[in-house]
Amino acid sequence: MLFTIQVNNKKIKAEKGETILSALNRNGIIIPTLCRMKEFTPTGACRMCVVEVEGHDRLITACSHPVVEWMKIKTHSPRVITARKTIVELLLSNHPDDCLYCDKNLNCELQRLSEELNIRERRIRAKKIKPRLDQSSPAIVRELSKCILCGRCVRVCEEVITSTSLDFINRGGATHIGPAMDRDFNFSSCIHCGQCVLVCPTGALHEKHNISEVQEYLNNPEIVKVIQYSPLVTTGIAEELGIKYNKDFDKVLNSILRKIGFDKVFITGTGTDICISEIADELKTKIEEKERKPLYISACPAWVKYAEQFIPSILPQLSTVKSPQQVVGALIKTLVAEQAGVKPEKIYSVSATPCMAMKFEARRDGMMRKGISDVDSVMTVRELARLIRLYGIDVTNIEPEPADDPMAGRSSGAALAETSGGIAEAITRTLFFKITGKEVDRQQFKKLRAGGSFREATISGDDMELKVAVVDGLIGLEKLRAAQASGNQYDLIEVMACSGGCINGAGLPFSTIKDEKKSRAKSIYQADDTDAIGLPCKSPVLINLYEKLIKENKDISDKKIFHTHFEKRNVLL
Ligand code: SF4
Ligand code: SF4
Ligand code: FES
Repeated sequence: MLFTIQVNNKKIKAEKGETILSALNRNGIIIPTLCRMKEFTPTGACRMCVVEVEGHDRLITACSHPVVEWMKIKTHSPRVITARKTIVELLLSNHPDDCLYCDKNLNCELQRLSEELNIRERRIRAKKIKPRLDQSSPAIVRELSKCILCGRCVRVCEEVITSTSLDFINRGGATHIGPAMDRDFNFSSCIHCGQCVLVCPTGALHEKHNISEVQEYLNNPEIVKVIQYSPLVTTGIAEELGIKYNKDFDKVLNSILRKIGFDKVFITGTGTDICISEIADELKTKIEEKERKPLYISACPAWVKYAEQFIPSILPQLSTVKSPQQVVGALIKTLVAEQAGVKPEKIYSVSATPCMAMKFEARRDGMMRKGISDVDSVMTVRELARLIRLYGIDVTNIEPEPADDPMAGRSSGAALAETSGGIAEAITRTLFFKITGKEVDRQQFKKLRAGGSFREATISGDDMELKVAVVDGLIGLEKLRAAQASGNQYDLIEVMACSGGCINGAGLPFSTIKDEKKSRAKSIYQADDTDAIGLPCKSPVLINLYEKLIKENKDISDKKIFHTHFEKRNVLL
């Protein structure tokens, strides 16, 4: 039901049940917010969104207060602006003054609010918070002195990721955010998804940087420098560098990376095709053996760590296939090393990815052989963009070049794998083709491509039927459990920790991820519809690898390098 409210002496329409903030935003009136996150219930904690409402002595928080008919609101009165300004001034009073080299410089919400509220001096001075840098996690750095206690990280970790690895510690002036018992991050149950980094308004949480290490190796003439990048990296880099993305940019990125000093440039998508094909084979075996238990896909490293910590009972059903990054890493240190005539320890292997948990994954015990890691360093898209800028390359004036053989191409199924439901779809399509020799009707995947944290579909064709479930963000696990408890059985289950999949990965440009999940998924689906190579088994690159290069190399012909093992993980906190 619509009714009238008065805002700044003008009548606007509001809807029964909505908050003041929502009515204002719909009518084009912008109010600053800090603790609020879209799609979360408001807490009213920061008071940044206060407005004056006639009849109320105190200022009202617009994000948590519902509209009432004929309410009279002032959104930018002197009293309101002073209150908002004071909140920001108090936050700045003990904040470290290192904006110039802060991770969030130019992307910081506190910086933006200071600018918007015209704060030009440090009017309130308080004792600076003692710097505390927690670098113990393989993926995420915590800088406690930059934390403004908005609580967003705590909420996303608990309500979306369901890992509950962060919380408020102590009370009053001693309040801060941290893992249980105030231990370092590496002792916690954190699965390194990085979703807390995405929502943190300041530089209090950010990825662990690998740029200096990569630079060091780039300057070492004794070492062969190799990089792989996943499909979403090109669009992310184009955006970070302010270039309009088109398909040619994939090849431009290859040239850029070679100019920086990488000797070989591979695409992670080839590894995704291997991953899809290997999992389809695992599933085929299960079906032939009439195994009733489902096969869980293991491509998301944050999900894998979650399963090891919280649901170890499903580990026997978790596919043993490594993630695409690790598959390519393994090929680099075996096949590529042999082709180049260098020892694996003389290769420095870098991966650029939208996923933060892959920094952790590359350090796993099962991801190295004879003490040599398959992937030596993992960089987010933001880090790679910084590295490119550092080398002063004119990216607008560069000739496109192909990636290097033997990992220079992929199917559209590999790109599909970066959206939630995509890898399950690609595996199912591949399996049907492997068994029936025909492509399954793609319309049947519509349900798997829809929204919501849990989706299911029955795919059929040629006397064959496959029940597939997709958990889109770990919050969807609850619905999966309920469906299984009610008797639903599945053959294949995909779980991705971040909602939307890698298109919402914490390593993508901050500007990209805000409201772009849907359009990003849409363009991946469109590309899949038009791409000539929709199935991994039709990719000439994969055929060459499987039919020739891997087969002929006695060290890897058993394809064991594509598999690993997962174990119950005891977490202290
Ligand atoms: S990285 Fe993910 S699991 Fe770890 S604290 Fe952040 S949100 Fe929680
Ligand atoms: S770490 Fe960031 S998101 Fe978490 S409470 Fe502090 S400022 Fe907010
Ligand atoms: S945004 Fe409304 S109280 Fe924080």
